[in-house]
Amino acid sequence: MQKDHTQNRPKHIAIIMDGNGRWAEARGQERREGHRAGVEALRRIVKQSEDFGIRHLTLFSFSTENWGRPRSEVSFLMSLLERYIESDLADLHAEGVRVRVIGRRDGLSDKICRLIDRAESLTASNNRLFLQIAFNYGGREELADAAARLARRAANGTLDPEAINGDVLAAELLTAGVPNPDLVIRTSGETRLSNFMLWQSAYAELYFTDVLWPDFTRDDLQAAIDYYAERERRFGLVSASGETD
Ligand code: IPE
Ligand code: IPE
Ligand code: MG
Repeated sequence: MQKDHTQNRPKHIAIIMDGNGRWAEARGQERREGHRAGVEALRRIVKQSEDFGIRHLTLFSFSTENWGRPRSEVSFLMSLLERYIESDLADLHAEGVRVRVIGRRDGLSDKICRLIDRAESLTASNNRLFLQIAFNYGGREELADAAARLARRAANGTLDPEAINGDVLAAELLTAGVPNPDLVIRTSGETRLSNFMLWQSAYAELYFTDVLWPDFTRDDLQAAIDYYAERERRFGLVSASGETD
């Protein structure tokens, strides 16, 4: 029987965009050229996501650990986010993309914070694609911050500790209101999460490819989506086809 692939399409794809530095080094170029090319790949994927029926796209672009890189690389990555918002915001808005930047604001310049606020408020009522950019993001920090907020509410008597469950905690995360990713893609051959969406990815399908992020194309996205379509997500239950009673 022909499989209905539209049934098995991921609604939310999260991508760990890795390999920019190696892409540049392989060409004898500075790492920053890899980051620049990475932004081009990001633009392509955002444009193509509609064709694949993706509703939510989360892109990991700067981790809380990335502060430990050389100062010049960190400041280049900051300037790339600035320039991306400045140059692409109007187009994103025109295309009906809702933008949210998830991550800690501390450490970011006032200018970047203002740009993020502008991007989020301008696009707040768009609903074609929900684009989350994970910048200065760390999954452990996100969970710790959520726990601290719940603890404060419990301490001041506005929250009963007994009422805390998974849903209550999820509502405190930076991704509140966004469905969990169905598919997490990581490029560049690394097979780890590197502190990305630890809570939200609990039941995501994971797809790893050796392709370096700047080389990631529509065909690579198609391959990841095809892989997803073949998976059976059981969420801890038994196989739907193996049920006997
Ligand atoms: C991913 O590429 C982008 C960021 C982490 C900011 P890398 O810069 O990690 O590239 P590699 O892993 O060194 O090749
Ligand atoms: C993860 O990549 C972070 C981003 C893609 C933004 P890294 O290159 O920082 O991760 P590690 O160091 O290989 O784990
Ligand atoms: Mg890397």
